[in-house]
Amino acid sequence: MCGIVGYIGTKNATEVLISGLSKLEYRGYDSSGVAVHTGSKLEVRKNAGKLSVLQTELEQQSLSGTLGIGHTRWATHGKPNDVNAHPHASEDGSIVIIHNGIIENYLPLKEALISRGHVFKSETDSEVLAHLIEEKYSGNLEQAVREALSEVRGAYGIVVTHVNHREIVAARTVSPLVMGVGQNEMFLASDVPALLNYTREVVFLHDGDMVVLNDSSYRIMDLQGNPVSREVSHIEWDAEAAEKGGFDTYMLKEIYEQPQALSNTLLGRLQDQTGEVDLELNLDPASFKRISIIACGTAFYAGLVGEYLIEQLARVPVEIDVASEYRYRQPLVSENTLAIVISQSGETIDTLEALREAKKSGAKTLGIINAKGSSMTREVDDTLYIHAGPEIGVASTKAYTSMVSAMLMLALWLGRARGTLDASTGTELLRSARELPRLVEEALSESRVANIKRVAEKYKDARDYLFLGRGVNSPTAYEGALKLKEISYIHAEAYAAGEMKHGPIALIDEKLPVVVIATDSVLLEKTISNIQEVRARGGKVIAVVSDGDTEASRHADDVIIVPKAHEMVSPVVNAVAMQLLAYFTATALGKDVDKPRNLAKSVTVE
Ligand code: G6P
Repeated sequence: MCGIVGYIGTKNATEVLISGLSKLEYRGYDSSGVAVHTGSKLEVRKNAGKLSVLQTELEQQSLSGTLGIGHTRWATHGKPNDVNAHPHASEDGSIVIIHNGIIENYLPLKEALISRGHVFKSETDSEVLAHLIEEKYSGNLEQAVREALSEVRGAYGIVVTHVNHREIVAARTVSPLVMGVGQNEMFLASDVPALLNYTREVVFLHDGDMVVLNDSSYRIMDLQGNPVSREVSHIEWDAEAAEKGGFDTYMLKEIYEQPQALSNTLLGRLQDQTGEVDLELNLDPASFKRISIIACGTAFYAGLVGEYLIEQLARVPVEIDVASEYRYRQPLVSENTLAIVISQSGETIDTLEALREAKKSGAKTLGIINAKGSSMTREVDDTLYIHAGPEIGVASTKAYTSMVSAMLMLALWLGRARGTLDASTGTELLRSARELPRLVEEALSESRVANIKRVAEKYKDARDYLFLGRGVNSPTAYEGALKLKEISYIHAEAYAAGEMKHGPIALIDEKLPVVVIATDSVLLEKTISNIQEVRARGGKVIAVVSDGDTEASRHADDVIIVPKAHEMVSPVVNAVAMQLLAYFTATALGKDVDKPRNLAKSVTVE
């Protein structure tokens, strides 16, 4: 996740860009840069580190001009250093670009450009855009950008300018982009807070929109060049509301950010044609005989999904521990063990200490981590970043679904490399993984969300809840119960559905809502039997079913319908329903969901 800003008008562009970027640092903060049209050329300043580093440099050596673009980076391809910072310039410096997203086919594009004589400066996927646009350019920047984008696959918010044109061209697919409309000035940004010091009139660009900005006008079109019209919205939000993107809470904003977070986790790593996954890990996948997964809280449940997927697809024995137990139980570890720590913050003390314990015993270590440069990333042998972007709501949402997706990719990678997963099954699973951002977008459609809100409000006064799931979705039940406990303070238990009859069945009466994950699965019939067992004892069944279901829903009191997904990827889609159920229960009860009592986002004490 990166932040981008563009400006054309009468003000000092550097000031507008820095002000905008300072509101977008939450989107990434490992380097930043600006390019300003200073009269005869486009001058670029960029540095690794926080925005303040760039700001100090610009105070010492100012750039004067009224057109510019700026970027704050959250590195995906290429280390967070000066060279990889944006903007990126074309060979002769006449074109500069900034990019948020991932160009999935950047490698073949880069190789082709190099063979045609282009010299690259950075390791980023984004730089191909500057070279490609330069190659297409023959006097018309808009046309050149359009032609270049037709060769690109992936996610992008891109902003481009050329030294010979007083205009800015921008386009988006998946990554967000909003335009600000001023008096004789125009703005672009990844998010509204960057614009609010200057204008409250904004246009939210849609997927596949392209826009050309001049000093006092703009044209929006699709990627083929056909004009489209988009409404100008007046933003009423104050600064705090703007940081929440107009949502009432960070948690809800982050729930809705999941399609983008998942794109960031998955795209660029899945090779559809071969069924391979490219995780850029240095680990030798054949060098260990067992895997040990260690994590806390929500990350632990992502690990449970991982345990299931890795054993199924890669046939390696996996054991999993909550980090606080691992440290003290003297686990059997050898140099044949791969210890995987999962953590959003990369700072949780129990996980960090467990990692040290595993290392001491000779294990190879891998981190599945969100926060760049965090303590764990410095201590593991290798890191698989989930790229979910900063998560502020204490109850984890987008980090969870991104962690589960990362575990899926890891299982696929191991399975292919160790020869336990054939190419055709690999390709099928990979295609299903690629569908996840779209499926989650669909899971967040207005009518589905409204239905979950209705169910949440109906049962908000329950004293207890029970969550049941099977197989790869038993962790979904655990995570659903955890989310509800964390933010609504309703007591919730979760069990593997088959285990219900060994105890929890005694809890069932007509006051107990029982959430049953009953989405498409080879074990669906068995789950339906569990639903009947609950009903027979008077319990209220809330069944989570796939689109088109006719069986499980027949026996339920309430139904939450989610998009149909391959069973192996369904925990991601189903988790969204769990998050919304917890969210609307808590808000119906008037709880502060962003700051639940007694909890901390990152627990750095034992
Ligand atoms: C805290 C948070 C949880 C989180 C857990 C692990 O308890 O409240 O939401 O899942 O820590 O955090 P980590 O940063 O290691 O994923």
